[in-house]
Amino acid sequence: MSNFANTLQTGHTNARRGLTLPMIGAVGLALLLGGCGKTANNSIEEEAATAQRLQRVGTVELKIATAGGAPKTGEQAFQAQCAACHASGALGSPKFGDAAAWAPRIGAGLAALTNSALKGKNSMPPQAGGALSDLEVSRAAAYMANAGGAKFAEPKGE
Ligand code: HEC
Repeated sequence: MSNFANTLQTGHTNARRGLTLPMIGAVGLALLLGGCGKTANNSIEEEAATAQRLQRVGTVELKIATAGGAPKTGEQAFQAQCAACHASGALGSPKFGDAAAWAPRIGAGLAALTNSALKGKNSMPPQAGGALSDLEVSRAAAYMANAGGAKFAEPKGE
């Protein structure tokens, strides 16, 4: 009887181990993939950021000319709509400027982060809960990710 119970218990333990190993593998793979994405993104985004810095003098004039109808910058969009949750980390959102909270997300790339904000994710509603354009949402996502340690260039409009 006690042998039978032992067998049952051992079987149970093995089943649990069997589950745990693939899970560790999946997490490791996710970290690995995330790491690769980050390296590739950074070099491209850094080049874009440098190009943007060089263009900045010319851009200022344009912005003044189109003020009013121009899409919001990342900072403006963030203040208008994202700060409501992300300034304090409300509802479990990654807090603005919290590098530890943003690091694992940044690896997914700006397109994936923007997609989460546009489609919604868990407690974050679609379009990040407001009336910003897709461009403005992506700029706000870049702005927030950058404050958390990323180096994404602010997405440009057409
Ligand atoms: C109503 C609260 C709320 C508002 C407003 C909000 N967010 Fe979020 N956001 C969240 C929460 C909660 C999460 C965490 C989702 C998760 O990973 O479970 C999140 C996560 C994110 C992420 C990480 C997504 C990922 O894939 O890891 C990005 C990027 C983001 N928000 C961008 C934005 C932007 C840009 C805005 C404004 C345009 C915004 N959020 C407005 C609640 C909000």
